Amino acid sequence: MENQEMAEGSVKNILEQDSLKWVFVGGKGGVGKTTCSSILSILLAKVRPSVLIISTDPAHNLSDAFQQRFTKTPTLVNGFTNLYAMEVDPTVEEDMGSNEGMDGLISELANAIPGIDEAMSFAEMLKLVQTMDYSVIVFDTAPTGHTLRLLQFPSTLEKGLNKMMSLKNKFGGLMSQMTRMFGMDDDFGEDAILGKLESMKTVIERVNKQFKDPDLTTFVCVCIPEFLSLYETERLVQELTKFEIDTHNIIINQVLFDEEDVESKLLKARMRMQQKYLDQFYMLYDDFHITKLPLLPQEVTGVEALQSFSSQFVTPYQPSTIKGSVEELERRVSNLSQMLKDAEEELERLRKGKQKA
Ligand SMILES: Nc1ncnc2c1ncn2[C@@H]1O[C@H](COP(=O)(O)OP(=O)(O)O)[C@@H](O)[C@H]1O
Ligand SMILES: [Mg+2]
Repeated sequence: MENQEMAEGSVKNILEQDSLKWVFVGGKGGVGKTTCSSILSILLAKVRPSVLIISTDPAHNLSDAFQQRFTKTPTLVNGFTNLYAMEVDPTVEEDMGSNEGMDGLISELANAIPGIDEAMSFAEMLKLVQTMDYSVIVFDTAPTGHTLRLLQFPSTLEKGLNKMMSLKNKFGGLMSQMTRMFGMDDDFGEDAILGKLESMKTVIERVNKQFKDPDLTTFVCVCIPEFLSLYETERLVQELTKFEIDTHNIIINQVLFDEEDVESKLLKARMRMQQKYLDQFYMLYDDFHITKLPLLPQEVTGVEALQSFSSQFVTPYQPSTIKGSVEELERRVSNLSQMLKDAEEELERLRKGKQKA
């Protein structure tokens, strides 16, 4: 089953593509986006001068993954000299709307165009990040729908601008008269807001052009070998294609490898199910780099755990024993006799207990 892989089954291609500036990591909730983006940023930090990882998922967990508190300004990750992390919440960021004079208009706009406030704070964030000059920026994105909305922001802003224009035409000079009447200075006037929207649009448009450049940007899809995840991934890949955003890496996380001496019927059944979907992933995405990651017995938290898991990202998974080999059979026999011994002992104990009672 290992030799079905055409493109190399690792994320090495991302580490080697040194023109990359933006790496998006996305997929459904709970599949391992934060784990994978954290590890990608750790690996990139080994080959790049500086790396920033940004979480745009309102359910932040970079802090959990790295076991360190992060805020909306970049913070050096403990144990690194060139890896920074920040968490931004696109839904509650209120920098734009906090000026009194703008409140009315901005909330008017926010009601008129869903997503405009989010778009503006995303633009602010991108503007900030662009001035910081990181070699590469990794995005731990929110679940699917959310991410794609972020990528549609230029058109959202366009709508915002049009709405502003139509408001302006409708009320003529009334609004600017009012802002003057209430003693608000020009910073909060309608023209200032319009100007701000225009500059946001410029930033977003520039960034979006970069997002559509496969030399600069790629999107890594994280999923698990199950029906819904396969389906979601296909939807995601299609949307990305529609937005002209490059994607050629799929990470399949939580794979049960058939190397452990599995005797459990449940696990065996799950493995068969996973294999069915793995086959479909390989069939559908034969031109993608598909990286398979094993399901670990424990969570992946803390830099140490992330570091040790990171080896699985660059070297395709190798079962430690080969199915049907003498070594593997010996281990299975030894495991089974241990299980038999344990069961016999338990039975013995129970029988003794019964005799007493
Ligand atoms: N391969 C794996 N084996 C075991 N636990 C994992 C694996 N990948 C992720 N986890 C754990 O699963 C949980 C969810 O992963 P996370 O990366 O936060 O997902 P997401 O960001 O997509 O919601 C975390 O507790 C993480 O440590
Ligand atoms: Mg997450």
